[in-house]
Amino acid sequence: MTTSTATMRAIVQRAYGPPEQVLELAEIDRPVPGDDDVLVRMAATSVNTPDWLTVSGTPSILRLGSGLRRPATPVRGSDVAGTVAAVGRDVTDLRPGDEVFGAVWENRARSRSGTFAEYVVVPADRLAPKPPGLSFEEAAAAVMSGITALTAVRDVGRVGPGTRLLINGASGGVGTFAVQIAARLGAQVTGVCSTRNVDFVRSLGADHVIDYTVEDYTRGNDRYDVILDNVLNHPPAATARMLTAAGIFIPNSVGPGGGLLGGLPRVARAMTMRWGSTDVRTVTCVPDRENLAAIAALLASGEVASIIERTYPFEEAARAVAHMFGHRSRGNIVIGIDGR
Ligand SMILES: NC(=O)c1ccc[n+]([C@@H]2O[C@H](COP(=O)([O-])OP(=O)(O)OC[C@H]3O[C@@H](n4cnc5c(N)ncnc54)[C@H](OP(=O)(O)O)[C@@H]3O)[C@@H](O)[C@H]2O)c1
Repeated sequence: MTTSTATMRAIVQRAYGPPEQVLELAEIDRPVPGDDDVLVRMAATSVNTPDWLTVSGTPSILRLGSGLRRPATPVRGSDVAGTVAAVGRDVTDLRPGDEVFGAVWENRARSRSGTFAEYVVVPADRLAPKPPGLSFEEAAAAVMSGITALTAVRDVGRVGPGTRLLINGASGGVGTFAVQIAARLGAQVTGVCSTRNVDFVRSLGADHVIDYTVEDYTRGNDRYDVILDNVLNHPPAATARMLTAAGIFIPNSVGPGGGLLGGLPRVARAMTMRWGSTDVRTVTCVPDRENLAAIAALLASGEVASIIERTYPFEEAARAVAHMFGHRSRGNIVIGIDGR
């Protein structure tokens, strides 16, 4: 593959700080795919926790990994939905014009470019065909949120018919997928959210909804076989007390707070509980073809949907990140890229 000097528009981060101050639209070199890679012309991406963490640079200890003064990679974003523009010479099963979705994970050895851009280079094994009935926006919203939820519920929590599952943060990007997937698997789902989202979470399939402004689930009488905690706003020991004898605690958040360490001490406390009597398990979101196909099948079935609160135009990507940073998004926040 020859080296290209073509350029593209991208949302570039030059420093850590509030999204509107540190993200700007710029013209940069278009990335060039290697032999195993695919160049995707982006149609939509979505905003996820790693994006606002890296934009804000908080908790600041995370800068040890992303870059001390500014992020080492300037373009954020990991969820891909778009059209194949070119393929590396070893890619045989995708061709220009194919509509695909998938992921680029930042800070991992194989990632090369971010998705807040008109073009992105993606390892071919991190892409799958986009289901034809699905919009690019719906596909983009389903990658990190959908696969994290699927992995948490199906694989880590091993949720099945009758499993009593509590989902803290049921109305967010991960939570809305988790509620729908768990309900489809026959679990007895309890969702935790604020007042304005109670009916919404119930409409996704939750059997019970706890309004956290009225009731603290760590002080209730009910016990759960699995607790998926997407917020980590309670001490882990208080959450673990709500488990049944063989219950599974899935802490799935960096926890609240900024400063040097943010919620990381709480994450550490949750992890050390696995040396006691609590079954603590973590979720690793792997956007490989198997998981992409599984989430695509769920979406194509019509029984699970991508919930999108808002799609921002490309030029307003900073506002999209700020929206997510507010921790009140209902479902997912998407960025449309090709101006359709
Ligand atoms: N393991 C992985 O690989 C992986 C991948 C992706 C994400 N994650 C983690 O998953 C977590 C959730 O991500 P997300 O994208 O779903 O976040 P999100 O969309 O930003 O979550 C927003 C939601 O959080 C809810 N919320 C805020 N405070 C709450 C509280 N005190 N109690 C209950 N709900 C509360 C809000 O509901 P209300 O408006 O009703 O308050 C809102 O719906 C993150 O912490 C992230 O780190 C892990």
